[in-house]
Amino acid sequence: MYKIAVLPGDGTGPEVVAEGLKVLEAAGRKFNFKYELTPFDLGGERYLRTGEVLPESAVDDLRQFDAIYLGAIGHPGVKPGILEKGILLRLRFELDQYINLRPVKLYPNVDTPLKDKGPADIDFVVVRENTEGLYAGAGGFLKRGTPDEIAVQESINTRKGVERCLRYAFEYTRRRNKDNKLTLCGKTNVLTFAFDLWERAFHEVGERDFADIKRDYAHVDATCMWMIKNPEWFDVIVTDNMFGDIITDLGAMIQGGMGIAAGGNINPEGVSMFEPIGGSAPKYTGQNIINPLAAIGACQLMLDTLGEHQAARQMETAIITTVAKLKSMSAGQMGYSTSQVGDLVAQAVADS
Ligand code: IPM
Ligand code: MN
Repeated sequence: MYKIAVLPGDGTGPEVVAEGLKVLEAAGRKFNFKYELTPFDLGGERYLRTGEVLPESAVDDLRQFDAIYLGAIGHPGVKPGILEKGILLRLRFELDQYINLRPVKLYPNVDTPLKDKGPADIDFVVVRENTEGLYAGAGGFLKRGTPDEIAVQESINTRKGVERCLRYAFEYTRRRNKDNKLTLCGKTNVLTFAFDLWERAFHEVGERDFADIKRDYAHVDATCMWMIKNPEWFDVIVTDNMFGDIITDLGAMIQGGMGIAAGGNINPEGVSMFEPIGGSAPKYTGQNIINPLAAIGACQLMLDTLGEHQAARQMETAIITTVAKLKSMSAGQMGYSTSQVGDLVAQAVADS
């Protein structure tokens, strides 16, 4: 019996989560696993109503679950940063979800903006460090608001944090067993402290424990270039928090857009949290036109991480069957409503 916490969140979050849960139900019936859902009311609406962002008790409650399923955080009525830092980043940090796993996979019949590239070319995974770097919140102001103002934002890279991320990436590359190649994405030519540590740890860990995995390196700017020009060169990319944030939005675009891109915030020894990476899309709220496939993909990643590998595989097959029926991945242009897309995937799982 899996205990799953559900955080529908803001904007279109609740609509897409409902479809993910619909597909989860079909998968549970088909593959005989049981689960129990516990909803959490967190997000912009609650903040505006009560002033509460994330109560201490909620964090402790969430530690008791096997997984967390998240819709979206972000509300047009709340100043940017409050909910993102107060809910999403705080959960990643407090639950020590030190990996942000973001597959970049173009499914057949999905449009990519890359000319002459298809599903055989766009199939890699980004392992983003998720608790350190520029996101650690280190730094501050001096003389704020004066002409002599100074703002410092430091990137924190601990040997322990970097190494556990690298180990996860090496192991993931081995398990994936595609090209057995791990690319470190950094900026060793300018960030000569942070990425010196990353590079040394990368080769030490790789040489000692992962001699079967090819080690490759690309600067982050060049990584962006190759993701567009030769995405087929990548198998698994490992990188720091900030670079990972940026290159995975680029990745989402080449795999068909925010309607399809999913990710997992993973603590391999603890509670992991799964989310569509597209955000709350407030302008589409309540219209039943947003694409739920990213949220369904997040549910698939959740099942895989819980150990329901067969169900996860069938869920992916069902997503592939469904995308072939959609006119577009974009909200309002799918040729189906949000709930109809959920129905199609759930049906495909049931029929599998
Ligand atoms: C993401 C998002 C978040 C991030 C924001 C909402 C804080 O962009 O999950 O990539 O920067 O990590
Ligand atoms: Mn992002």
